[in-house]
Amino acid sequence: MQKRQFLNTVACAALALTAGNALAQDKFKIGLILPMTGPFASTGKQIEAAARLYMAQNGATVAGKKVELIVKDDTSAPDVTKRIAQELVVNDKVQVLAGFGLTPLALATAPLATQSKTPMVVMAAATSSITQASPFVVRTSFTLPQAAVAIADWAPNNGIRKAVTLVSDYGPGIDAEKFFKDRFTFNGGQVVDSLRVPMRNPDFAPFLQKVRDLKPDAVYVFVPSGAGAALMKQFAERGMDKAGIRLIGTGDITDDDILNSMGDVAMGVVTSHHYSTSHASALNKKFVAAFEKANPGMRPNFMAVGGYDGMRVIYEAAKATKGAGGEPLLNAMKGQIFESPRGPMFIDAQTRDVVHNIYIRKVERVNGQLYNQEFATLTDVKDPGKAK
Ligand code: DHB
Repeated sequence: MQKRQFLNTVACAALALTAGNALAQDKFKIGLILPMTGPFASTGKQIEAAARLYMAQNGATVAGKKVELIVKDDTSAPDVTKRIAQELVVNDKVQVLAGFGLTPLALATAPLATQSKTPMVVMAAATSSITQASPFVVRTSFTLPQAAVAIADWAPNNGIRKAVTLVSDYGPGIDAEKFFKDRFTFNGGQVVDSLRVPMRNPDFAPFLQKVRDLKPDAVYVFVPSGAGAALMKQFAERGMDKAGIRLIGTGDITDDDILNSMGDVAMGVVTSHHYSTSHASALNKKFVAAFEKANPGMRPNFMAVGGYDGMRVIYEAAKATKGAGGEPLLNAMKGQIFESPRGPMFIDAQTRDVVHNIYIRKVERVNGQLYNQEFATLTDVKDPGKAK
């Protein structure tokens, strides 16, 4: 009797183990690490919403496996991002890491992606060098040099000869400054001063005062997503627009998420970027409508599109590898070419970086709402940062 009981217990345990294994193998796990709280929470909210939309539209199974999206808040602290990534790889055995709301968060995790051979899909961070930090990084966001060079070509042909640059003092800001300055100068423009503001809790007032005193034709700005509203408010308070100083920049400054709340001061601001909520394609109209339906009161911005396309790259790679992770999954991400809500998009197999159109846009009121209206297109722009 005792023996039979013992055997029964063993049999049950073995069954449980098999079931557990089968369950584990039946899952395709995506570890999505994002700033969900703190000053960069809007980035996390946009990307999570877009990732969930992609899953709702494309099914929660891929290659016969149930897709499990594990969302973790890194509070935008690099040591937390790295610790969470480690836990996701070691304990949860995720097939892929994704998210990365800021450059320092991506750079902190890149060595772990290399060591563990885990593909790492960067959906937000945009400093050129990130893809070089690990051969396992694939990027679906954009790069600052792509956007900066485009506006540096536009400005001198549109009455802007003298500019001051004003950027957040970290990776993407340094890229935004350098690539604008080099190209603008090459085009005959003059950068009379380059100002850098702290990335966290910036007070733009003293910097804007400096710009006012220098009286350039334009101030060229990069701040990370979400920070544009504060800058725009202080720009108006100092009467910069009335003093005839134009505001230009990469599209991070007129972020679609907050643009509508900026008011008249944003009207006419010209920026360069890879995505606008008002991008006039059938696919984008469908994307925006579905996103807004699933997230009332929210508008998809360039962070959302980075998350949505990142999920596309992951799903298609998982289908090709039948749900396997590691190097095969990474290789299946390389060279993907598809239509994104932003327009045509390509993951360059050599650089693992995104190649896409960059649009020149102007803030206009359409049906009572502010939008970045695209009026010129540079097609298939590779990251100029890779040619260094
Ligand atoms: C980065 C963050 C942003 O919010 C943005 O708009 C561009 C770049 C970054 O940290 O890489």
